[in-house]
Amino acid sequence: MTKRAYNFNAGPAALPLDVLKQAQEEFVDFRGIGMSIMEISHRSKEYEQVNDEAQSLVKELLGVPSGYQVLFLQGGASTQFAMIPMNFLKQGKAAGYVLTGSWADKAYKEAQGIGETYVAATGQPGGFRAVPNAAEIEARPGAAYVHLTSNETIAGSQFAAYPDTGDVPLIGDLSSDIMCRPIDVSKFSLIYAGAQKNLGPSGVTLVIVKDDLLEQAAKGLPTMLSYGTHAKSKSLYNTPPVYSVYIMNLVLKWLKQNGGLEAMERFNRDKTKLIYDAIDGSGGFYEGLVDPGSRSLMNITFALGSEELEKRFIRESEKEGFVGLKGHRDVGHIRASTYNAVPYESCKALADFMNDFRQRNG
Ligand SMILES: Cc1ncc(COP(=O)(O)O)c(C=O)c1O
Repeated sequence: MTKRAYNFNAGPAALPLDVLKQAQEEFVDFRGIGMSIMEISHRSKEYEQVNDEAQSLVKELLGVPSGYQVLFLQGGASTQFAMIPMNFLKQGKAAGYVLTGSWADKAYKEAQGIGETYVAATGQPGGFRAVPNAAEIEARPGAAYVHLTSNETIAGSQFAAYPDTGDVPLIGDLSSDIMCRPIDVSKFSLIYAGAQKNLGPSGVTLVIVKDDLLEQAAKGLPTMLSYGTHAKSKSLYNTPPVYSVYIMNLVLKWLKQNGGLEAMERFNRDKTKLIYDAIDGSGGFYEGLVDPGSRSLMNITFALGSEELEKRFIRESEKEGFVGLKGHRDVGHIRASTYNAVPYESCKALADFMNDFRQRNG
């Protein structure tokens, strides 16, 4: 058995062991062609098959209705922060941003440099301990779109349900929770997600965009920054990140083999409950940083009584084989990222470690 770390990294993050093993098997000789997938043209039938399989698995797993395009882009989710307003924030219209923490703020700031924006709702007064509820989100009539961040990777909050924005297109950054549960894609006009948390390695960004919205995209943009370019060419306009798409395809197959997104949600709820229970049952030794109704299934954040104690927690956890528990450098504290590929056993081991640490230090 390969010895695997208890990997709680925030991204790039844990990948399913089965996927890594299959990639290892196929690394030198992909499907009997005598070359690796990285050594052949992206216009070869072998690569086109990988690209097509991955696109149709995205549609199948998420239940993407007809009238949407699935794109595989580059530049990370951060490039989407700019591409979205460049393509869809027309003069004379404003785009609403729902502010839930660091990532939403980055998307908002990028849009502010490109066009007119407004704050559709903000969780700032409460210190981002909760995401705004659907009724608080202002979808102004005639707005270009409303943008939200489904899961705040740094704060550790997540929307339990998405708002209904009526005629105003809803755009979602699902970078850190895509495919952690079933969603109703039809609520969104555009979804984007960097792959490096739940879908595979970094290098590819998934975009799901509605044809209606695509038709309204700005003309005259630089070729690579126009969604239309990629939609017209099945994401093969230029050389794609072939290895990232290949691994993503394996991850999507793994998701399907393991029962799809309903099974994944049950699995994620069960395994994160172990850690949330360790927080809630600690009599205040661990303090959750997000209100229960907005807690994330993907990033669990908590504090201990002092920085000194947190340093000791990290030090001791590392000795026990835990990786990635240090909170983001902007906020500190502790963060356990529990993406789809993080096994139940890792979460159980962390909950046990937390209980033991509390008994020794409480
Ligand atoms: C919610 C969210 N949005 C956007 C990003 C930025 O992604 P990228 O590094 O792919 O640009 C991240 C990265 O962690 C994220 O968690």
